[in-house]
Amino acid sequence: MEVFVLRIGHRPQRDKRVSMHVALTARAFGAKGIYFDVEDSKLFENVKEVIHRWGGKDFYIGHESWKNILQNFDGLKVHLTMYGVSLTEKIDAIKKADRLLIVVGAEKVPPEVYQMCDLNIAIGSQPHSEVAALAVLLDRLLEGEVFRLSFSDAKIRIIPSEREKKVIDLSGEEKS
Ligand SMILES: C[S@@+](CC[C@H](N)C(=O)[O-])C[C@H]1O[C@@H](n2cnc3c(N)ncnc32)[C@H](O)[C@@H]1O
Repeated sequence: MEVFVLRIGHRPQRDKRVSMHVALTARAFGAKGIYFDVEDSKLFENVKEVIHRWGGKDFYIGHESWKNILQNFDGLKVHLTMYGVSLTEKIDAIKKADRLLIVVGAEKVPPEVYQMCDLNIAIGSQPHSEVAALAVLLDRLLEGEVFRLSFSDAKIRIIPSEREKKVIDLSGEEKS
C-alpha cells in the first residue's frame, strides 16, 4: 500500500512545530510523502534536512491547494476527525486500498473536506492531536512498519542501546 498525507490549514508561525512532527511521523511510520496546502519554505527545508541526514530521499514534500489534491488523488481518501466513524469499524476496508491519502487538519477543517473524502475516521471520539491520530492510523495500516523501516541512503544511523546514545556515521565511526 502506498500512503500519502495531506496536512490542511497549516499556519506557518503557529503550527511550525506540530507540522514538523506531522511530516516526521509520516516519514518514520512509512508514508511516501506529505502535501501541505500552503507553502512554508522554512518548514520544508527543515524536513529535507532531516531526510538528508537520516535518509529517505524519495519521501515527497510539497504544496498544492487541498481542493486540487482531493479532486485529483487517485486512491482512497481518509479524513481523520474525532467526529468520524471509529477506525475499528473501517480498518479492514481501508487496508484493501492500493493508494491512500490521509488528511489531517490543524485548525477547523472546511466542511467540504468531509464531503470530498471517502471516509471520515475517528481515532476515538475525544479531541487529541493530528500527530497521534496519524501515528495510530499508520501503525494499524502498515502493521508496525515504524519498527522495520530503515533508509539505505541514511548518513547516520542509531545503534539501539539500553543505556547509551550510539550513532554511526557513513564512515562507520562510532560516536557516543
Ligand atoms: C488539534 S485538532 C483540531 C480540530 C478542530 N478543532 C476541528 O474541529 O476540526 C487537529 C487535527 O487532529 C486530528 N484529530 C484530533 N483528534 C482526533 C481524533 N479523535 N480522531 C481523529 N483525528 C483527530 C484531526 O485531523 C484534526 O483536524
